[in-house]
Amino acid sequence: MANIIGVVGAGTMGNGIAQVAALAGYSVILYDIEQSALEHGQKEIGKNLEKGVAKKKLTVKQSEEAGKRIQTTVDFTLLKKSTTVIEAAVERFDIKKGIFQRLDETLQHESIIATNTSSLSITALGAVTKRPDRVVGMHFFNPAHIMKLVEIIKGQETSHTTVSRITSLAKEFGKTPVLASDTPGFIVNRVARPFYGEALRLLGEGVSDAAEIDRIVKKSGGFKMGPFELMDLIGIDVNLSVSKSVYEQYFHESRYRPHPIQQQMVDANLLGRKTKRGFYGYDSEEA
Ligand SMILES: NC(=O)c1ccc[n+]([C@@H]2O[C@H](COP(=O)([O-])OP(=O)(O)OC[C@H]3O[C@@H](n4cnc5c(N)ncnc54)[C@H](O)[C@@H]3O)[C@@H](O)[C@H]2O)c1
Repeated sequence: MANIIGVVGAGTMGNGIAQVAALAGYSVILYDIEQSALEHGQKEIGKNLEKGVAKKKLTVKQSEEAGKRIQTTVDFTLLKKSTTVIEAAVERFDIKKGIFQRLDETLQHESIIATNTSSLSITALGAVTKRPDRVVGMHFFNPAHIMKLVEIIKGQETSHTTVSRITSLAKEFGKTPVLASDTPGFIVNRVARPFYGEALRLLGEGVSDAAEIDRIVKKSGGFKMGPFELMDLIGIDVNLSVSKSVYEQYFHESRYRPHPIQQQMVDANLLGRKTKRGFYGYDSEEA
């Protein structure tokens, strides 16, 4: 069977993952339920490949060939040919459960289902399929075509062969894989919870504003981005879903409690860069 990578979800992460796989020489089937998401995803891939050429990280040939290797579709059955599917749809267990069950019915017996979930249980996702030994976490970071780290998460039933196949794949993608156990938020999102949480509390209490908190964290902490800039990049909706998921899975441990500001911003559709408004405005940036 030819080595084909399926990617489910063409949003912020899915389109970056598709690009990474195509640049590594794989044929990619990028699936989404929304045609508009596929069109937007393809545009983003095109822009990022162009940037790669402009920065001399890619040749024109590499960029063009990678673009051609990505096929977009709203037809789920086309994923059947994939040897590995990387799921990057919305961070909701109910939605991922439906996708995993459908993938399990659709894919060849030996194919692996990897998920880019930031916080959900790999064990629980594996358990909705008949192939929990071939279900694994493959957690990329945003922007996926730039960030090197990939957390590989072994669920209770994930086989060592699956972990080793996905670790090799991450390396082929030019990434640095790190093994994490199946705990809510894994390593990075667990460490990052107080980063966002305390910043939101400071903002909520009126101690300081977002720009000032970001500035201090960067200047004195040496961080590349402050918590509010990072939440705008991630997507306020995605960050809220992850916050809620970690909070739920730790049985409402207070230190993980989401902040009402997050919910208010989602209700107001202030989702960060993707809606051009979040903690900051991005109206001047090209679409
Ligand atoms: N945004 C980040 O910084 C980041 C970083 C690492 C991991 N993640 C994880 O990656 C996943 C995707 O996040 P994102 O930021 O790309 O989200 P996003 O909102 O940008 O994109 C999600 C996409 O999933 C699609 N979708 C929804 N339901 C679907 C279904 N049933 N089948 C197929 N596609 C469906 C949507 O149409 C949308 O295009 C989440 O699990 C998230 O936790 C996000």
